[in-house]
Amino acid sequence: MTAQLMDGNALAAQIRSEVAARVLTLKNSGVQPGLAVILVGDDPASQVYVKHKVADCESVGMRSVLDRLPADTPQPALLARIRALNADPAVHGILVQLPLPPHIDANQVIATLSPAKDVDCFHVANVGALMAGLPGFKPCTPHGCMRLLQAAGVDPRGKHAVVVGRSNIVGKPMAMLLLQANATVTICHSATPDLGAMTRQADILVAAVGRRNMITADMVKPGAAVIDVGMNRNEAGKLCGDVDFAAVKEVAGWITPVPGGVGPMTRAMLLVNTLQAAQAGAAATTT
Ligand code: GUN
Repeated sequence: MTAQLMDGNALAAQIRSEVAARVLTLKNSGVQPGLAVILVGDDPASQVYVKHKVADCESVGMRSVLDRLPADTPQPALLARIRALNADPAVHGILVQLPLPPHIDANQVIATLSPAKDVDCFHVANVGALMAGLPGFKPCTPHGCMRLLQAAGVDPRGKHAVVVGRSNIVGKPMAMLLLQANATVTICHSATPDLGAMTRQADILVAAVGRRNMITADMVKPGAAVIDVGMNRNEAGKLCGDVDFAAVKEVAGWITPVPGGVGPMTRAMLLVNTLQAAQAGAAATTT
């Protein structure tokens, strides 16, 4: 059997066109959604990511501001910049690209963001709302994964979902969204003994570890939906995920490619969140 491909490029393009239509409506009512992206330092991967995020905004008619700050920017200067953006009514979303240089405390930075503009959904107020099932932002990568499942017609209700990885950005919020969608969820991590025994139980398997070929074909239940959040490079420098794609696609029912799976969906959901922030802001100023 060969798995069906969950095509993130195609779904992201469809979501961008829906966002573009809504941006136009908001613009006609006098509000242009705006995203501020802050990049501290010159990490090569981060530079590529932020360039894409800014280009995405432009492609849907949003305004975007890219703030490039030197690697030795003192933390108080960065926090002051964030406070200025918090107070700027033309900025609806603020994203501080991670990782930050080692002299900067990322938790302090995230705590300084206005929760209403925290389109990454990193602030504890937004993480707490997600955990409590209250309305608010959904984090971009996990939300993008849920949309891929939905588009494939895979309903998590009653399924066993196994998430490999427990990061604050992906693993933990992914588990929460799957739980809200009525899956039975297991979170595995580096201290999980016999990982394969867990992953073989998964109807939905999400790999978010950051290690190439971590998920091999013998670890996958036949017919499972396999979502690969990994972003690794092989010896030749080619982008690859955490899943041994060539072998796993012969076992799985659905699978995301890398590139072209989760990555474009993360970017598309950032636009969705920025639109949501702008719509909430517009509603707040008219009531
Ligand atoms: N670095 C890697 N992934 C992300 C992300 O989703 N948001 C931000 N701000 N930084 C990242």
